[in-house]
Amino acid sequence: MPVYLGYFKSLGYTKTKLLSIRKSMAKSKTAYVCTDCGSEYSRWLGQCTDCKAWNTISEFRQAKLPDRGGNFAGFAGSALNDEAKVQTLDAIDLADLPRFSAGFAEFDRVLGGGIVPGSAILIGGEPGAGKSTLLLQTMCSLAANMTALYITGEESLQQVAMRAKRLALPTDKLKMLSETSVENICHIAIKEQPKIIVIDSIQVMHMSDVQSAPGSVSQVRESAAYLTRFAKQHHVAILLVGHVTKDGSLAGPKVLEHCIDCSIMLEGSTDSRYRTLRGNKNRFGAVNELGVFAMTGTGLKEVKNPSAIFLSRSEEQTPGSVVMVLWEGTRPLLVEIQALVDHSALGNPRRVAVGADQNRLSMLLAVLHRHGGLQLNDQDVFVNVVGGVKVSETSIDLALILALVSSFKDNALSQDLVIFGEVGLSGEIRPVPSGQERLNEAAKHGFKRAIVPFNNMPKQAISGMEVIGVKKLSDALEVI
Ligand code: TYD
Ligand code: MG
Repeated sequence: MPVYLGYFKSLGYTKTKLLSIRKSMAKSKTAYVCTDCGSEYSRWLGQCTDCKAWNTISEFRQAKLPDRGGNFAGFAGSALNDEAKVQTLDAIDLADLPRFSAGFAEFDRVLGGGIVPGSAILIGGEPGAGKSTLLLQTMCSLAANMTALYITGEESLQQVAMRAKRLALPTDKLKMLSETSVENICHIAIKEQPKIIVIDSIQVMHMSDVQSAPGSVSQVRESAAYLTRFAKQHHVAILLVGHVTKDGSLAGPKVLEHCIDCSIMLEGSTDSRYRTLRGNKNRFGAVNELGVFAMTGTGLKEVKNPSAIFLSRSEEQTPGSVVMVLWEGTRPLLVEIQALVDHSALGNPRRVAVGADQNRLSMLLAVLHRHGGLQLNDQDVFVNVVGGVKVSETSIDLALILALVSSFKDNALSQDLVIFGEVGLSGEIRPVPSGQERLNEAAKHGFKRAIVPFNNMPKQAISGMEVIGVKKLSDALEVI
């Protein structure tokens, strides 16, 4: 600067003015962020050392946003806010936090009892999962009672209108906007005063302050952070749609998880009718709640009794099929586990688990060999959880082992038998939470017999059901 000082002075700049310009030109910070898990690195790496994913790290340029002092309306740059008020917890007014229903009981359940005003909720899922359909149905029903604004950045207004017409939704109240600029959206939201906004999708949104292209980590993260702040200040609930893709070109919703309040995934393969809604993070309720929907010709319909659909079995008894009771959040769910054990022609037999954990399957095969005396080294083993349900619970262990044995021995288990329990490495059967409720659910669906961990034996007998408690794997094998 000293070299050119004389030149700039001759142009009428003062030294202070020049210094302030130089300060504002300070380089924006660059970081490298994993699009799967959100870990940050100071340099690029081929593999994320946290989540071990390959090729997911992309450059992230932190935007130098002008300090708006929390003033969204005028973007005036008041630097420090003297009026920030410190309060004790009990002095905070809770009166304006009543939740409102999203119109679907299953959706409310996953949200922890409804939508909280001023919250930012991310709805993630693969393209075609039905995110836009679910939110359009929700918004059309909500619009009857409150101002609702649907921002579409991906589809044209005509496309959305056509879908609403085909689904026979009430269309007279919902306000629509086709826009991708976050600043404009907030500007219009201040004018329209909606109580709920849907942004479809966050990956096409952009902010003018951020240099990189829409869909990049920087844009997605800054846009989401900006919209979240907006939601908090204006007490608007904002639902953000986020696509999850296998390749790293779009920023995965993981990078947003820290700034939003709830993260919900809509899962289910496009070839199956059923979609499950699962909470991954929820600041206002429990996670791991499961909501079940069916995609029909007229949009998504709630499934009130999910056990019934995951259990639609043929009347015939088949070897390798076992019914178990899962515990999903706050309710039990009956699912069918299928196993196929077949002689392998390969030197290295296959072990395939769909809907269950592959490592757990290997572990259970070892336990079965050691404590059940059954050698499956020369057999291909396939395991499937029917209905596209993903089981992460350990209560699947016993059902899985008995399904494997049933298939290997070609011996069908009786249709009215239900099984659950965790299996330890020394062949012991360990109890699982909520045993009584699981058994009640099974009894409700007409199951007559149950094999459960000994410590899960019910205190009072369940009418019409014979419960067998087992302590060791060998006991369970004897029973069947
Ligand atoms: P969509 O909501 O567009 O998915 P996303 O926004 O998550 O990408 O849903 C698209 C899929 O849903 C599409 O493959 C067709 C199917 N679908 C139905 O089967 N029935 C319907 O009534 C609707 C609206 C969609
Ligand atoms: Mg969509």
